[in-house]
Amino acid sequence: METLILNTNTPRRLAAAVKAAAGELADGQCVGLPTETVYGLAADALRPDAVTQIFEAKERPFFDPLIVHLPSREWLGVVTKIPDESRALVAALVAKFWPGPLTLVLPRQAIVPDIVTAGLDTVAVRMSAHPVFSAVVEFYGRPLAAPSANRFGHISPTAAPHVMSELGGRIPLIIDGGPTQHGVESTIVKVDSGELTMLRAGPVTPENLGEVFHALCESRNYRPTEAEVEHFYERLGVSFAKMVRGEDNVTMVAPGQMDSHYAPRTPLRLIAPGVQVEIYSGENEAAARLGSLAFCEPSTASSHFVCEEILSPTGDLREAAATLFAKMRHLDEAGLDMIIAEQVPEHGLGIAIMDRLRKASA
Ligand code: TXA
Ligand code: MG
Repeated sequence: METLILNTNTPRRLAAAVKAAAGELADGQCVGLPTETVYGLAADALRPDAVTQIFEAKERPFFDPLIVHLPSREWLGVVTKIPDESRALVAALVAKFWPGPLTLVLPRQAIVPDIVTAGLDTVAVRMSAHPVFSAVVEFYGRPLAAPSANRFGHISPTAAPHVMSELGGRIPLIIDGGPTQHGVESTIVKVDSGELTMLRAGPVTPENLGEVFHALCESRNYRPTEAEVEHFYERLGVSFAKMVRGEDNVTMVAPGQMDSHYAPRTPLRLIAPGVQVEIYSGENEAAARLGSLAFCEPSTASSHFVCEEILSPTGDLREAAATLFAKMRHLDEAGLDMIIAEQVPEHGLGIAIMDRLRKASA
């Protein structure tokens, strides 16, 4: 199959690309589309035959469920059943973070095919804020299932050429919307009995979610006890003491989902900044091709780096997240024996970055 890439540089090209994407979707095909987090591989979420194409192109196992991207907030009630005790919380989250990089896991309606949810009784939903994605899903008028547009277990694509190198020849169309804004996948929280559980760290941070919790309490004129606040943050996978008392290096206590995700093919070792690396015993470090992935300053871990990437020279976690996967991918293509990645400060967006680095090193 030949894979076409359409750009969206002018309003006319955007309109033509949106139409072409909707045409492929109506044909039951899948299409590579930009979202504000990473590129997605989209298909009509309500058509099992179309969704099957996603699993085939990605070589993704059928037990791994997909995120459903909605054309509008009105679709939330069509694909999910929100229990009364979760209603106020969901409304507040949707009002604050949609469209945007927050995915909610909620009980599903029967309209959602089993292949989308891997047979679970819940479905993951979000609304993308990307102008290209939202134009396509609104024009098409039906929800789109879209996982990241990479082959299973590979690094998520943050630019159209990454999608081409992952899926070229397997899908008919990629829409190029330029590099993505956030660079890491959406935050995923499960909403159950009026409570949140973090399933995947992302651009919407525990601090951001905490603001909604406090605003909801305030709107009910309720002052939560310290134990309640502690409970809220612990379910989001962060240590209460560190979060609330403002100490550095918040620790994720919730594991990610599948450890094989986000993996470069090159072995990646995660180290604390300033630590010297020793290469496998018996081997000569100078003979090994080492690459460095540092946060804001050139790494001093070794004097033998043949390739160096710095995530953000100004130490900005947003910039670091936005460039992480592209830089990891670049190092992965350099024929290295090992990538030495330095830890980043683990607060705010740094929680999501460290989650991806840990998975890449697993
Ligand atoms: O930013 C994103 O979320 C991107 C863009 C394209 O929207 N999508 C994305 O999809 O990262 P994917 O398939 O690569 O990751 C979705 C994750 C998977 O780890 C899957 O296991 C989890 O969401 N998931 C989906 N449905 C779920 C459910 N009902 N319960 C728990 N986890 C679920
Ligand atoms: Mg993925």
